[in-house]
Amino acid sequence: MFDVSKIRNDFPMLRREKELIYLDNSATAFKPQSVIDAEKAYYTDFSANIHRGDYELSYRADQAYDGARKTLADFIHADTDEIIFTSGTTQGLNMAAYGLEKLIGEGDVILSTLAEHASNILPWFRLAERTGARVEFIPLEKDGHLSVENFRRALHERVRIVAVAQVTNVLGHCADIKEITRLAHEKGAVVVVDGAQSVPHKKVDVRDLDCDLLAFSGHKMCGPTGIGVLYGKMEILEKLEPMLLGGGANKRFSSHGDLILSRIPERFEAGTVPIAQAVGLAEAARYLQSLGMDSIEAYERELKQYLSGKLKELDNIEFYNPGSEAAICSFNVKGVFAQDAGTYLSSHNIAVRSGNHCAKMLVEHLGVDATVRASMYFYNTREEADRLVEVLKDCTLEKCIDIFL
Ligand code: ALA
Repeated sequence: MFDVSKIRNDFPMLRREKELIYLDNSATAFKPQSVIDAEKAYYTDFSANIHRGDYELSYRADQAYDGARKTLADFIHADTDEIIFTSGTTQGLNMAAYGLEKLIGEGDVILSTLAEHASNILPWFRLAERTGARVEFIPLEKDGHLSVENFRRALHERVRIVAVAQVTNVLGHCADIKEITRLAHEKGAVVVVDGAQSVPHKKVDVRDLDCDLLAFSGHKMCGPTGIGVLYGKMEILEKLEPMLLGGGANKRFSSHGDLILSRIPERFEAGTVPIAQAVGLAEAARYLQSLGMDSIEAYERELKQYLSGKLKELDNIEFYNPGSEAAICSFNVKGVFAQDAGTYLSSHNIAVRSGNHCAKMLVEHLGVDATVRASMYFYNTREEADRLVEVLKDCTLEKCIDIFL
C-alpha cells in the first residue's frame, strides 16, 4: 500500500488548495511537480522543433520526443512505432473512425453501446452515414455494464468494427476487452477501445488485450492537456488513412498531386507536434509507474468500495453504480437537480461534475439524464469520502435554494 499523504505532497494543486476536495478526476487529474518541471524544461532548456533542424538544440528535442514515444509504448506494452501522439482521446477516436473508412461498406455494422462518451459514438455515426453502414447497440445489463454474453449475442457476420470503452465514464464499468476482442476477431471485426478512463487507473497491456486501436488522453493520467495517444497494431496502422495531411506526414510530393507518405507513426502526426506535452506525458507515465499501476488500481478499488458502502446508507441518495469497478460514484440527491447538488457541494469546497458527462445516450438506459459524479484518483482519501457523505446527508432542495439567495 502506498503512502497517500506523501503522494499528495507531489501535487502543487493539493498543497495549494488545502480546503478543496477534488472529486472530478474523470474530467481531468492534477499534475505532480515532476510533470510540470518536465514540460517546463522543454520551454526553458531545449525549445526547438523536431525532425526538421540540423542543429544541436533540435537533436535534443528529437531525442526527448522520440524518447517520450518509447516511454508511452512501454507503458501500455506496445512497440514504439505503434504509438501516435494526438491531442487527446477525442482526436484519437476520430482518427480511427476516419481512417477505417475503406474497411467498411454498405450494410456493414459498427457495434457499440449506449454508455459511450460522445467521442466514441459521434465519429462512428458519421462513418456510418458516409459509408451506408449502420451502428448497432449491444444491450447493456440492468446495472449498465457490458457483459461478454450480450456482446456474443450482438455479434454477427456483418460487424466490421467494435467500438467500446474499456471503462465507462459515468458508471465506471469495466468491459472484458480481451474476451470481446477474441470474439470480434473470430468474425474478422476490428476492435477500437476508448481507454480514456482505464489507462490512467489500471495496467493496460495492449499485447495481452490484442485490441486493434486504443485511444487515451494525457491530462487524465497526470499529464499535460493537449496530448493523448492513439495506439494501433502495426497491421491496422498500415491500413489506416491519415486524417490530417501536412508537414512531417509526407516524404515527397509534387505539383502533379502525387504523394508519398512518411513512415508510421510520423504519417499520422502532420504539423508541429505537441513536443512539450509529449515530454510531460512521458514523465506522467514514469510517475504512475513509480507508484505501480496495480497498487493504484487496488487502492482506488478499495476507495470505491468504501464510498459506495457509505452512499448506500443514505436515504436521500439515488445511487446508480455501487457495483462497478472504477472509483466513480454517480448518484442523485432525491428531489434535487444534479447541477444544484453540484453547486451545493461546491459551496462546501467539494468539486464534482454534474450533468450528462457527454454520455448523452445513457439516459435511454438509466432513465435519468443528469447525475452527480464523484470520481476519485489515487491521491483521494477516505477522509475526503467521509466529508462528501457528511455534506450529502444534509443536502436538501431548501438548502440548495438558500445558496442562490
Ligand atoms: N471525458 C471527460 C469526462 O468524462 C471530460 O468528464
